[in-house]
This record gives sequence, C-alpha cells and structure tokens, in this order.
Amino acid sequence: SVTVVETIEELRSALEGRTVALVPTMGALHDGHLALVTRATELAETVVVSIFVNPLQFGPSEDLDRYPRTLADDLVKLEAAGVEFVFAPSVAEMYPGGSSETKVTAGAVGTMYEGRSRPGHFDGMLTVVAKLLGIVRPRFVLFGQKDAQQVFLVQRMTADLNIATSVEVVETVREDNGLALSSRNRFLDDREKRAALALSTALEAAQSSGDRGIDAVLAAAQSVLMGENLVLLDYLSVVNPATFLPVDDDYRGKARVLIAARVGDTRLIDNELIHLG
Ligand code: PAJ
Repeated sequence: SVTVVETIEELRSALEGRTVALVPTMGALHDGHLALVTRATELAETVVVSIFVNPLQFGPSEDLDRYPRTLADDLVKLEAAGVEFVFAPSVAEMYPGGSSETKVTAGAVGTMYEGRSRPGHFDGMLTVVAKLLGIVRPRFVLFGQKDAQQVFLVQRMTADLNIATSVEVVETVREDNGLALSSRNRFLDDREKRAALALSTALEAAQSSGDRGIDAVLAAAQSVLMGENLVLLDYLSVVNPATFLPVDDDYRGKARVLIAARVGDTRLIDNELIHLG
C-alpha cells in the first residue's frame, strides 16, 4: 500500500539503494497524471509521486490559493495504481527560509509563450524540479507533453546542469472529444467546456493544414478559435521542437503548435506536433 512521506530525511532513507522513477505533480490528479504513473511503473521498481503545489511557480495574481487540493482522493488513485511512495512535503519543508535564495533560470525560452504571460513561472518550476531531483535522485523522471514548454525546459536543464536522470515524456491524455485533461478543467461550466474544445479542434485544423505551410496553419487554427466567442486567445505559436523558437517562413519538417487561451476565468493550454511541408 502507498506510504505518504512528508519529510526529505524520511524519503531519502526510504529510497536508499533503490532505482526510482519520479512523477512530479501538484496533485488534483486525473487520468493524465495517471498515464505518467503507469509509464513510471514500467520503468522502475520503485515509483515516487510528489504532490506539492509549488508557490515559487505562481505569480502574485495567479491561482495559488484557488489551486485544487484533493490529497485524500489523490491517494486513493495512487494506491489503486500501485504507487509505493507519495512525497507530500509542506511548503516549510521545501522552503525553510520561505523561498529559495538560489534559483534556476530558464533563459530566453522561459520568457516566451507561457513565460510571457506568467513571468517567473518557469524559473520557479525548474527550481522545484531541480530540488525534487536532488531529493529523490531518480533514474527516471516523467513529464506530460501537455506542458510542452515545461518538457523542453526540463530537458534542457538536465542537459545543461548534467543532472543524471532520464526525462521520459508521455503523450497528452485527452477526453474522447479531444479536450486535454487538466486540473483546471473542473472550473469550466458546461458552456465553457464546450467552448474549450476550440483549442484541440484548432490544433487538428492546424495539423491537417501543415502541407500548405505556416500561414495556412495559423489561418486554420485562428479561424476555429475566432469562431468561439467564449475563448480569449492568449497566444498561438508554431515552434521548432529543437529550439522552441518560432519557425521561419521557409522551415520544413516537424513543428509544434502551441495554444493558450482563457475560457471564462480559466486559462488553458494545449499543443500538437505537426508536419510543415
Ligand atoms: P501538474 O500540473 O500537476 O502536472 C504534473 C504532470 O502531469 C506534468 O508533467 C504535466 O505535463 C502532466 N500532465 C498534466 N495533464 C496531462 C495530460 N492531459 N496528459 C499528459 N500529462 C499531463 O506540471 C506541474 O504539475 C508542475 O509544473 C510540476 C512539474 C509538478 C512542478 O511543480
């Protein structure tokens, strides 16, 4: 059965000598998180799921207080998934001084897309991920493709800082209608949920326009998003997967389309790989 560990010291001694796959989360678990857990159990004998709503990655006007906290439900799901350890530290355990004086900086890509709308978010995210990797020292760490920029920045951090863990990426889990699962979906009412489908529909339209070039891709996605007046587009970008920078007009090959939008008070993101012909 699942063991909940709240301190770094206890976790370290429990994990001594084990090969671990770590799944970092902020809780409010859904089937997207559980897909990461399933993959983790395939990779390593011992699976650790961390549940920590990291204050460092939330801006002053963001939803830190509103972020759903459902630990009891989360534990039921993780128990059923056969997870051995849940690391659920307090804020004081992770940040004894209230914050971390030393921070990881995400660099230029960290200020674009999500980072433009959420200044400091990726520095805070990388800082807590670096701490979790230092605490757990896992052989594998798992991330979802849903947060494509997060995946890119974590991969670059582990390469740049020579962190000896293998970053495993799991495809985005969606509802049957295409909506990417997110802890924030619970804030959508029925009308907003229908409107939110514009994100995944726009990505499908983008995907099937890839052969006609970047302008056609953007036009196809935009026309879907504009057709939904509850959806307020934040950004729509097409990036080179190798650099995460916007593709040039003459770029050919694999590209990733990124969308962020507000639906009512809820901010949603989604992305899809396309082929620019
Ligand atoms: P959180 O939003 O809880 O997400 C935890 C992990 O689940 C992330 O790797 C995310 O990409 C993945 N995930 C979320 N929805 C998914 C979906 N529909 N399909 C597949 N994977 C999905 O991301 C964070 O927490 C935090 O930034 C964290 C990495 C824990 C650092 O605080």
